[in-house]
Amino acid sequence: MTVPEEVKFLFDIELGLGAWAWGDKVVWHYGRTHTDEDIKNAFDISIESGVTFLDTAEVYGQGRSETLIGEFLKNLDKPVLVATKFMPFPWRIRKSSLIKALRRSLTRMGLPSVDLYQIHWPFPPFPVEHWAEALAEAKQLGLTKTVGVSNYSKNQMQRAYTVLAKHGIPLASNQVEYSLLDRRIEKNGVLQRSQELGVRVIAYSPLAKGMLTGKYTPENPPPGIRGRQYAKILKDIQPLLKLMTEIGQDLGGKTHAQIALNWLICKGTMPIPGAKNARQAEMNAGAVGWRLSADQISCLEKASEKFM
Ligand SMILES: NC(=O)c1ccc[n+]([C@@H]2O[C@H](COP(=O)([O-])OP(=O)(O)OC[C@H]3O[C@@H](n4cnc5c(N)ncnc54)[C@H](OP(=O)(O)O)[C@@H]3O)[C@@H](O)[C@H]2O)c1
Repeated sequence: MTVPEEVKFLFDIELGLGAWAWGDKVVWHYGRTHTDEDIKNAFDISIESGVTFLDTAEVYGQGRSETLIGEFLKNLDKPVLVATKFMPFPWRIRKSSLIKALRRSLTRMGLPSVDLYQIHWPFPPFPVEHWAEALAEAKQLGLTKTVGVSNYSKNQMQRAYTVLAKHGIPLASNQVEYSLLDRRIEKNGVLQRSQELGVRVIAYSPLAKGMLTGKYTPENPPPGIRGRQYAKILKDIQPLLKLMTEIGQDLGGKTHAQIALNWLICKGTMPIPGAKNARQAEMNAGAVGWRLSADQISCLEKASEKFM
């Protein structure tokens, strides 16, 4: 794999931090399960533990996530890289709407530019080429250091890559769902093609929205939408969780979350787990600096095969 010079920094980052829950009430119950103080503590401990990459989006908490990040960045003396996203709502017709949305994100975060700007979803009515052209303009205006996509299939990613290449701009990343409970990108060609193109795979929902932390069971499902989404699978994942407990013990006390994240790092991707408080953030940051063995990886993959 040849990685273009200007996106190499993304390949050097093993683990990031996802900020969807920072302001989101619908799925994540912001204000009920976690306060602004919890979030600030999660941010602080992540940075102290060496996390240098934050992922957010204009739509997370309708801008609240970006606003909180802006507040946290104000007095920070360490460099942190920030990625955010543009949602191609169907009423956003002109390419200039991407530049306007990016400027609004920058205002919320108090930044002159971001490190990565991503198209959130390949939604119709406009083809991916339309938004790839707009990304190129954002990069040319100096509003973002690099550009990426999210939830793009192998084919859509290739098409965005080709448009950007005409402008001499590399496609830096494709952010997709990937975890031991969702291994579709291994089958649909996204993982392999990204590696061939030198596109960083950013793995979202790497803990399967908390299911891989071992704290939820069929008797104790998560509240709300997540409970309904995962009600059936919670029973089926118990053997996988048991294996993760055993592997964790063999590794001197690694947690389920750490094993789930380390597996994604071993697969050559960058997981961006969400954290609602300091305890979760600290645990997740402990997923780096060590590696699962080849044997442990193969046992985990066998136990998670049925979720591919
Ligand atoms: N591009 C996209 O379309 C897209 C889609 C989804 C997510 N994302 C990005 O990916 C990030 C991460 O994905 P995600 O938030 O969906 O799911 P996730 O990282 O798989 O799970 C996060 C949730 O799991 C629980 N948790 C996290 N660490 C834990 C720990 N160490 N111990 C126990 N529980 C823990 C917390 O919820 P509870 O405490 O409530 O269980 C937390 O909010 C997002 O923040 C966002 O930046 C992108």
